[in-house]
Amino acid sequence: MNVYPGERPSWLDEALHESLASAAYPDEEPARAALAKHHGRERAEVLPTAGAAEAFTLVARARPWQKPVVVHPQFTEPHAALEQAGHQVTEVRLSARDGFSLDPAAVPDDADLVMIGNPTNPTGVLHPATAIRKLLRPRRLVVVDEAFMDAVPGEPETLTTTRDDGLLVIRSLTKHWSIPGVRAGYVVGDSGAINDLEAVRTPWSVSSTAAAAMLACATERASAEARERADRIGAWRDHLEAGLRAQQIEHVPSTASFVLARPGVGVRELLRDEGIAVRRADTFPGLGPEWVRIAVRPVEQTDRLLSALRRCKR
Ligand SMILES: Cc1ncc(COP(=O)(O)O)c(C=O)c1O
Repeated sequence: MNVYPGERPSWLDEALHESLASAAYPDEEPARAALAKHHGRERAEVLPTAGAAEAFTLVARARPWQKPVVVHPQFTEPHAALEQAGHQVTEVRLSARDGFSLDPAAVPDDADLVMIGNPTNPTGVLHPATAIRKLLRPRRLVVVDEAFMDAVPGEPETLTTTRDDGLLVIRSLTKHWSIPGVRAGYVVGDSGAINDLEAVRTPWSVSSTAAAAMLACATERASAEARERADRIGAWRDHLEAGLRAQQIEHVPSTASFVLARPGVGVRELLRDEGIAVRRADTFPGLGPEWVRIAVRPVEQTDRLLSALRRCKR
């Protein structure tokens, strides 16, 4: 799993523990206000959710989509949520030949929903915000999954800061703050679409603990620490990518906390036999068994992986 491999900050741990003290039902309003302020948006432009995963389900159920499009390869959950809601999904597949870069013209004109990840899991590609904004059209909702954007120092391509009709951005606190069990995420964007998502939400889907995490992570102190984590991930990733290059293992230059590499069929199993886990990638539409997704880890762990990869080649 691509969760930051470090200690949780003490201020976050304290906030999580304190959230259990109250015997009241959850109140997400303080978190909602804090997230809105954090992104320079209005309250109506932000919706807390039980992780990014809940947001996918809300999008899928919010409107009677006629032609929902998912840009692949990407995390399979948005696609699955659409199918579960009874929609037929059109796939647009980006190609390894072009470095999995986005060609906005590849998306059919009549798509009324487009879901894309940025940076994308599993490719690690960071699409320019300008390319994603080219997808915007009247009567279309563009949903950008920025669950890994906090791994990108300075977040230069985030779309949380631009106000566009028909644009929603999904964020997650899961990865960067190492809290997958808390289920904390949110959506930022077009207030009309936010309203539609809110209308299909389960009451109190955001727990007191998740709301406390949102509040704690929407401060300047958290932002500074988030940046430090992103810089550390960048340094670790440079080490991993340099090691892959040295062994001439094809990989996609990444901006995220993982790297998509193509070491060949069977390598994942050989690594597993050595006690090293890399994520299979053939479950992502458009990728085959020769690809794996490697988590970015501290240097010593990466060196273990690189040595094992060297042995696989022999
Ligand atoms: C790209 C991407 N988006 C969203 C999620 C879900 O995040 P959350 O834990 O906030 O539901 C994941 C989880 O792995 C993911 O990889």
